[in-house]
Amino acid sequence: RVVVLDFGGQYNQLIARRVRDLGVYSELISFDTSAEELKEMAPKGIIFSGGPASVYGEGAPKCDPNIFDLGIPILGICYGMQLISAHFDAEVERASKREYGKSTVEIASDGPLFKGLGPSQSVWMSHSDVVITPPKGFRVDGRTVSAPVAAMSDPERRVYAVQFHPEVRHTEQGNEMIRRFLYDVCRCQGEWTMETFIDDTVHDLRRNIGDQKVLCALSGGVDSSVVAALIHRAIGDQLTCVFVDHGLLREGEADSVMRTFADHFQMNVVKVDAQKRFLDKLSGVTDPERKRKIIGNEFIRVFEEEAEKLTQHQFLAQGTLYTDVVESGTDTAQTIKSHHNVGGLPEDMQMDLVEPVNTLFKDEVRKVGEELGLPREIVWRQPFPGPGLGIRVIGEVTEEKLAMVRKSDAILREEIGKAGLDQEIWQYFTALPDFKSVGVMGDSRTYAYTVGIRAVTSVDGMTADWARIPYEVLEHISNRIVNEVDGVNRVVYDITSKPPATIEWE
Ligand code: XMP
Repeated sequence: RVVVLDFGGQYNQLIARRVRDLGVYSELISFDTSAEELKEMAPKGIIFSGGPASVYGEGAPKCDPNIFDLGIPILGICYGMQLISAHFDAEVERASKREYGKSTVEIASDGPLFKGLGPSQSVWMSHSDVVITPPKGFRVDGRTVSAPVAAMSDPERRVYAVQFHPEVRHTEQGNEMIRRFLYDVCRCQGEWTMETFIDDTVHDLRRNIGDQKVLCALSGGVDSSVVAALIHRAIGDQLTCVFVDHGLLREGEADSVMRTFADHFQMNVVKVDAQKRFLDKLSGVTDPERKRKIIGNEFIRVFEEEAEKLTQHQFLAQGTLYTDVVESGTDTAQTIKSHHNVGGLPEDMQMDLVEPVNTLFKDEVRKVGEELGLPREIVWRQPFPGPGLGIRVIGEVTEEKLAMVRKSDAILREEIGKAGLDQEIWQYFTALPDFKSVGVMGDSRTYAYTVGIRAVTSVDGMTADWARIPYEVLEHISNRIVNEVDGVNRVVYDITSKPPATIEWE
């Protein structure tokens, strides 16, 4: 593996990600990791990340100077390069103006990172300090108009440094430069795959958990499902999952969770049938925010009650992703952290957290899920809000209305799948507005509910556009819903983008 020392830069997560995409396991570790600890980890290379500080500034993060004596290849990026310069007593100067954005580096040597890539390279810069002259023993590998040393190296000591950011896409050959550092300088083998991630994680989990017990809240979403499957592979029956069926799941979802985890994987899954409890709490409540709060609080209460019954569980497993671990300098490398509050679970649970996928991005978690043999419907599940169908029944939630949303949603999902549109539409579901309208069926007048179809394209859910579902597909869905869902006589299609609307109706 290759480790990235985290000095707090905004692109740090990308560095580890690029390295992993190149087939070498990488993780971000705290900048103050000692040379001793690093020696024990025995990485094939060390990357110093960028960071917002100035190397001469007060409280600037510094690495253990003995790291330079380990004989492990080092690549410094941006702040990392200034740190290397300062360590070897070269001059770093606060530039009068920041250099930010695209820039061109004139390549000045045929060092391994740049050889044969062409005389000038389009790169992404984001810095204010510059190195004026390289440290003794270093040569200049590249310059820009404003940075006399934009890249430098000491091949003897195997220390390389660049002022620009090779990890961002705007640095056109950045990936190639990183690849060369990994393969030509560090001599990595490139054997890291999701399979090795799983093996390593399982090994670490076994070591850290020992013969203690772990509790995991299973929601049916991809993150908690992958975490449960991983931990189960590591410690088997020492893991207990709690699955709260709040009655607000989609058709077939609760069964699918139980089938997958209890039957197929043979895990200990405690299913809590709390449908009535949630419905009672929601009775008479129409305000969307209150509904959300009630569902969230009730979920925690039910989970806590179960946890209390299951004493002697030392650890609480959570599906925290890399993107959720925002603070820089956190020990993301560690599988096990002391308890703190993520995802709304109470702080006083007196359990230590296990977060085995907190170094991964969502698409990597999906790959792990596939590798672990989780079914497609779980691995590729579309986003689904925590409050579930509770916020897709507009106004008061009743069993009768839930049935209408559940049934119409199942028809929509089935037809979108049949039309081959499930990959291109980011999220699609039905909602039930709180009104009735007049219709005619056979020779009789009807007075029944309307179903709204919502389908959007999006990248991250922050903005979205309504999906252009072909009329014929919509027509077929509409017919089926009116014919098959009791209590519904009208179907409408939501053609608003986000903004100004949101994706969910509540
Ligand atoms: P909105 O409706 O705000 O939704 O445009 C954006 C995305 O977030 C999902 N969503 C939620 N997810 N808990 C969640 O885990 C929630 O309370 C929640 N509310 C909305 C929504 O489905 C969409 O993908």
